[in-house]
Formats: sequence, structure tokens, C-alpha cells
Amino acid sequence: MAQHIGILTSGGDCPGLNAAIRGLGKAARESYGMRVVGFLNGFRGLALDQTVDLDGAMLSGILTDGGTILGTSRDKPHRMNIGGKETDMTDAIVATYHKHHLDALVCIGGGGTQKNALRLVEKGLNVVTLPKTIDNDISMTDRSFGFDTALGIATEAIDRLHSTATSHERVIVLEVMGHRAGWLALEAGIAGGADVILLPEIPYDINKIAEAIRKRTQGGKRFSIVVVAEGAMSVDEARDVKALVDARDAADSKKARVEAKEKLRNFHDEHVGHTIRLTRDLEKLTGQESRLTILGHLQRGGTPSAADRVFATWLGTECAEALDTKKYGVMLGLDGTKLKLMPLSEVAGNMRLVPLDHPLITSGRRVGTTFGD
Ligand code: F6P
Repeated sequence: MAQHIGILTSGGDCPGLNAAIRGLGKAARESYGMRVVGFLNGFRGLALDQTVDLDGAMLSGILTDGGTILGTSRDKPHRMNIGGKETDMTDAIVATYHKHHLDALVCIGGGGTQKNALRLVEKGLNVVTLPKTIDNDISMTDRSFGFDTALGIATEAIDRLHSTATSHERVIVLEVMGHRAGWLALEAGIAGGADVILLPEIPYDINKIAEAIRKRTQGGKRFSIVVVAEGAMSVDEARDVKALVDARDAADSKKARVEAKEKLRNFHDEHVGHTIRLTRDLEKLTGQESRLTILGHLQRGGTPSAADRVFATWLGTECAEALDTKKYGVMLGLDGTKLKLMPLSEVAGNMRLVPLDHPLITSGRRVGTTFGD
């Protein structure tokens, strides 16, 4: 009997999603004779039974397109806004899965998607996931697709900012995405020759950054490029977050835990835009004109890089093979140079941060980059 599989894309969009859908859909249909249905807008489409038939025509001509033909959302199965009310749609999702007589569901997404997929595994559904995110922060896999394209965009931005920084003899701060991880800032900073790179993993002291910039000026280099991960924090901020995390983990009642989580969320909400303060403070401390560029969602848009197209296609086609051999409850990820099936129970809920002894941090220091510590 031909298998019937469902596909959805969930979480923030990124370049390479269509390449993965195409690779999986074509391989599933053409190599394994499977029927393929797409669910729209992430877990919402699965909860509300909104589908599209992923036939040959739908899967054709999408390899180079950014975004996702299936649409996406950050909806969680157990906490979905339905008619203005937070609703647990897990049972509705299970019902849709069975209504379509699915043999398996493929969820393509980032860290949040891995957690949501595991919830469905725990409800007895056959689920396989693929790792996508520009943040490159999904646990256990060495790469997620979308990262390479975002890295290229961020690097090009640094290249372009160099010319205006030198012409005006300015400090230019560039904020890049990455959520709580510093991969994008680290690799873009190294690729673009940033003078300062600030990562969430290395809390910074602004006086040390200012000192490094002043030294450059004294040495005749009258401009500086500062690449900052959106999740980067000063030493004081990192201490405050740690206290909030400790309070959340130590909470001994549901009420205390909800309150602690709320405080943590507020902290992160207020942290948005921290690079505006950082830029202003650097101008004061260095006496040098400073400007800020926040790259934002530009990093997620447009055509996927060749590397992302290749990786997403590889993941998609290999996923069809995993489905054919009925390997479920797993994420297909990169381990060195090989694709491997990784237990979702070990992937979900963990974040892959930049280790402090990562060779690229050493490499950056060796070419004179300051990390603010
Ligand atoms: O996870 C991808 C990402 O772009 C992060 O880098 C960023 O923090 C977040 O998504 C932004 O989310 P949204 O598109 O919902 O604003």
C-alpha cells in the first residue's frame, strides 16, 4: 500500500523551505510512490484541516523561491489562538491526521517546531522533522538550512557598511538576528572582518569595546565595524537574566513559575532595540560618530544560496527514504558530513549555542577582533 504523508512548515520562514518541500515531495512521489498532502500555515492548518495537494505541478518551479509555498506560523498545537481564545488544538490535530489516513507527518522547522513535533509523537503520531532556521541553533545538528543564505546577506551588509564607515570615519554597529545564539553574528563577523563581534554567549563590557575602538583610532584606523547578535547582552544584563532563569527553575508552584516566566519574557521584550542604546553609549565613550543598522527580516528573505538549496534538497530526499523505512520520532540532521536520524526526545527543548572554546572565536581573536570580554 502506498504511504500517505503530510508536510507542514512552521516557525519563522527562511530560504530553502521550498527546496526542502520539493526534494521531499518529489522523492516521496516519484521514488517511493507516496501520496503527499501539504498543511497550510504550520500547525494551524493541521488543526483546522487546511490542506493543499502537493502534486507534480505544485512541486515544480519552486527550488529557487524564498519563503514557503505552504505558509507558516508560530502557532503551537497546545496553545493556539482560535477566535481570540487560547485553545488546546492537540486533539483536533490528531483527528485531522487520522481523517487523512496519514502514515506520517513531516514538520519542517526550528527549535520550537521540534518541541511541538515531539508533543505529537507523544500523542502517538508518526513524525519526522527537518531542521530549518537562520539561527543555526537546533540541538544535535551541525547545520540547519537557511543559515547559509542569511550568513551571505549579513556578510554583504558588512561589506557595504565598510565603505560608508571608512568614508565618514564612523563606528557602524550592525545588529544581526540569531535569537539567543551567536552563530550568525560570529560567522558573518569573521567573514566581513568585523572589528568587534558581540555574542549572547559572551557577555560584554562596553568599556572594553570602547577601549578597543579607541586603540584602533590611535593606530590610524579611523572607523570600526561592530557586529552584534540580537541576543547579545552586557555583563549586568546577563547576570539579571541568570537570576530570572534561576528563579523560574526554582519556582515551587505553578503560580510562581508562571510569574517567573512572565518576568523573563518581559526582560527579553524590553531587550529588543538594545543596540540603539549600545550605539549611543559607544558614541559617548569613544567620541566618534556612530550609526546603527538593524538588518532584521532581510536576513530571511529572497532566493536561497546554492549551499542551502543543496542541503535542503538532500534533507528532503533523504527524509523520503526515512519515511519509506518507517523511521519515526526523529529529526534528520547533519553530523559532520553525514545525515543522521536523531531522536526528537533528545533534540527538542535544547538549544545549540556557540561553545566558548569554539575555534572561530579563537580565530577571530587571532585576527584582532574584540568580543567585548
Ligand atoms: O528564528 C528565526 C528568527 O528570525 C530569529 O533570528 C528572530 O529572533 C526571530 O526569528 C524573529 O521572529 P519573527 O519573525 O516572529 O519576528
